[in-house]
Amino acid sequence: MSSPELDEILDHYRNPRNYGEIENPDIHMRDSNPLCGDIIEIFIKVKDGVISDVKFKGRGCAISQASASKLTEKLIGMKIEDAKNLSRQDILDMLGIELSPVRLKCALLSLKVLKTGLYTYLGQKLERDEAEG
Ligand code: FES
Repeated sequence: MSSPELDEILDHYRNPRNYGEIENPDIHMRDSNPLCGDIIEIFIKVKDGVISDVKFKGRGCAISQASASKLTEKLIGMKIEDAKNLSRQDILDMLGIELSPVRLKCALLSLKVLKTGLYTYLGQKLERDEAEG
């Protein structure tokens, strides 16, 4: 079975965009899919509430890695507030293919890592702001 969406996913898997690490990132989060142990690690730089740079590293299936690669492209230039509101439907629309429940977990791993990273960052920022009064 072939489709432009599937070809694009395979292209992102073979040639991941924004692959690598960022030194001194504002957000750094790593998590795995408990079903298979596949990993996604995301590094983000934030400037004035906007995501100015994103990189990711990972190991795993085509769907999990392509989803992370496509997500990084979407995130650059996005407000933190908007990134916080990304939904599973946004990820599914981004991938554009039908997914079984098991594959859904693969597709959503990058979103889970992103959200955990964002909430950790926002929590720490709140603490800092409160400490500064
Ligand atoms: Fe592990 Fe897809 S099989 S994330």
